[in-house]
Amino acid sequence: MPRFRAISIAAAAWVCCLGLAYADGAGDPTPKSSKDGEYFDRNNNPTYKIDKDGRVDWYSYIGYVMYGANCLQCHGPDGLGSTYAPSLVDALKSLPTDQVEGIIVGGMSNVSASQNLVMPHFGDDKNVMCYLDAIYVYLRARSDGALGRGRPNLYEPQPKDWDAKLNLCFG
Ligand code: HEC
Repeated sequence: MPRFRAISIAAAAWVCCLGLAYADGAGDPTPKSSKDGEYFDRNNNPTYKIDKDGRVDWYSYIGYVMYGANCLQCHGPDGLGSTYAPSLVDALKSLPTDQVEGIIVGGMSNVSASQNLVMPHFGDDKNVMCYLDAIYVYLRARSDGALGRGRPNLYEPQPKDWDAKLNLCFG
């Protein structure tokens, strides 16, 4: 009987920790639904969709462009990090969606005697806020190793309500 008990505890530990590892980052990126060219995973978080021929969804493509315009100067090309700011390819391996978007909206700072690192807050910058999901989806694909470096060559056509949506966001 004691032996049986030990085995079941070991099994419980195994189940526990597999679950924890899976909860890291944003978890399973498989698209479960889509709306107006944007894809969502089973938790309804924005995700990417990349076909066998390398064709990416519109959000991943626009995310690449807007990352280049707003984040690259600090976080380096392709999200790989720089001497000033951390790699986002690495960071997203452990940060869930709401935390990543929360940092982009609210910023963060790590001020100590040896370093003074500031991540600006973009909550009032429409050039970032109107593309928040797109930038996130691009970085999610990069972090998962699903998308290589550089500009995606093939991508889904612009969703037909895209311009209207942006106009509404920019006001
Ligand atoms: C002016 C430089 C700068 C710009 C521009 C910038 N960041 Fe940052 N970012 C930083 C620094 C520095 C840190 C680390 C801050 C710290 O350690 O407290 C950081 C941290 C982050 C983190 C948390 C990383 C981690 O390891 O916890 C995320 C996510 C992030 N940035 C995303 C973005 C995105 C997306 C953009 C573009 C919309 C962006 N950043 C633009 C400098 C910048």
